[in-house]
Amino acid sequence: MDYISIKGNAKLSGSVKVSGAKNSALPLITSTILSKGLVNISNIPNVVDIKTLLKLLRNLGAEFEFNDNLLKISTENIHHTKANYDIIKTMRASILVLGPLLARFRHCEVSLPGGCAIGERPVDLHIKALCKMGANIDIKNGYIVAEAKHGLKASEIIFDKVTVTGSENIIMAASLAKGKSKIINSAKEPEVVQLCEVLHDAGVDITGIGTDEINIYGTDGELPEFKDISVIPDRIEAGTYLCAGAITNSNITLEKVVPAHLNAMILKLKEMGFDFKESDNSLEILPANKISPIEIVTAEYPAFPTDMQAQFMALATQSEGTSIIEERLFENRFMHASELRRLRADIKTSGRFATINGKNSLVGADVMATDLRASSALVLAALVADGVTNVHRIYHLDRGYENLEAKLTNLGAKIERLKA
Ligand code: EPZ
Repeated sequence: MDYISIKGNAKLSGSVKVSGAKNSALPLITSTILSKGLVNISNIPNVVDIKTLLKLLRNLGAEFEFNDNLLKISTENIHHTKANYDIIKTMRASILVLGPLLARFRHCEVSLPGGCAIGERPVDLHIKALCKMGANIDIKNGYIVAEAKHGLKASEIIFDKVTVTGSENIIMAASLAKGKSKIINSAKEPEVVQLCEVLHDAGVDITGIGTDEINIYGTDGELPEFKDISVIPDRIEAGTYLCAGAITNSNITLEKVVPAHLNAMILKLKEMGFDFKESDNSLEILPANKISPIEIVTAEYPAFPTDMQAQFMALATQSEGTSIIEERLFENRFMHASELRRLRADIKTSGRFATINGKNSLVGADVMATDLRASSALVLAALVADGVTNVHRIYHLDRGYENLEAKLTNLGAKIERLKA
């Protein structure tokens, strides 16, 4: 098994290009199930989650070429609608085929995604909304068996909890339904916004884009023609590199980024003592004289993102004082705390709360990644620890970070991938 070896006490400099957003590319790829003809999507990150989803789509009959971050895909010849457990169990976001398959083919069988390390991750809200749109849904042998003999009907959907992929599934389903659907309490992450914009540009009449109330006038089964798409920059990857600059108290610049998507993180970093120079698509972080402790509560966009919680926990170990983190979205998203403690971080967790006492000199050790964002937090801590840290089970990292070693090496880190 590969592992990453990182030499600590790193000082970083220079600039790093942010890749396309994995969590925007995933729904955009499944939305092509709704499209007529070939769709070109550029700036797709070459990461494992993308390859997994493309494998699933090829299995259904889609045809595509994926080279140099450009995907050319046609779903015209999809010949069956059963998404198998063996692929879905490795990538929960495969649930994003449910809405489009049901809307276009009026039946599908999609394996229930299991839970994952960070929580139980139910999809009850996806299913409830599709039933409201007229689908008959059964759970049989671990599969969601869905049918809508007369097509999905436009409906008023209210989500009891904000769900990113739930909103995306219903936005895609409603795009082919007959009549006007309204989604109340929709997620409004930039990735949800891009999906709405792409469907709108393809001719689906959508209003309220970027708000929590979206109106969609479906095409009644008419397949829209997609224009060329370029995936937005990955705000979580960008935030991770901002934390790399912050934890080593270095001056680095992020290129191909949308600063507006990072507002919550930037405000927290400013509270911790860092400053920034912004342009339309670049962001420079400047060192802090003293890193102050921070209080963080994770919530839906535009509040502080749960996907940045682990990275800020690592950073908080270098602040002078006590930081508090409340994780409100997932019930088990503190597994990185015990691995950070192996590096001598002073962290206590209780339920949804974590308390981090700094400033702590971290000492390199062998640590184990447990999920995608936890693994990036361990890399950040390793950059600042004394000595060498080996991060194991880095298949978690490979799911969502493109060319991580090369990008950090270009910034001056001493990092290499080795075989155990
Ligand atoms: C998306 O997951 C992201 N994944 C996650 O990023 C991210 O952490 C999460 O949104 C929250 O921002 C993708 O976009 C592919 P949710 P998703 O449905 O859609 C509960 C990463 O690191 N819920 O918004 O699965 C759920 O348990 C990943 O890139 C229900 O109860 O998350 C959670 O508490 C990790 N029933 C809350 O809602 C449902 O039917 C938010 O989940 C659906 C969700």
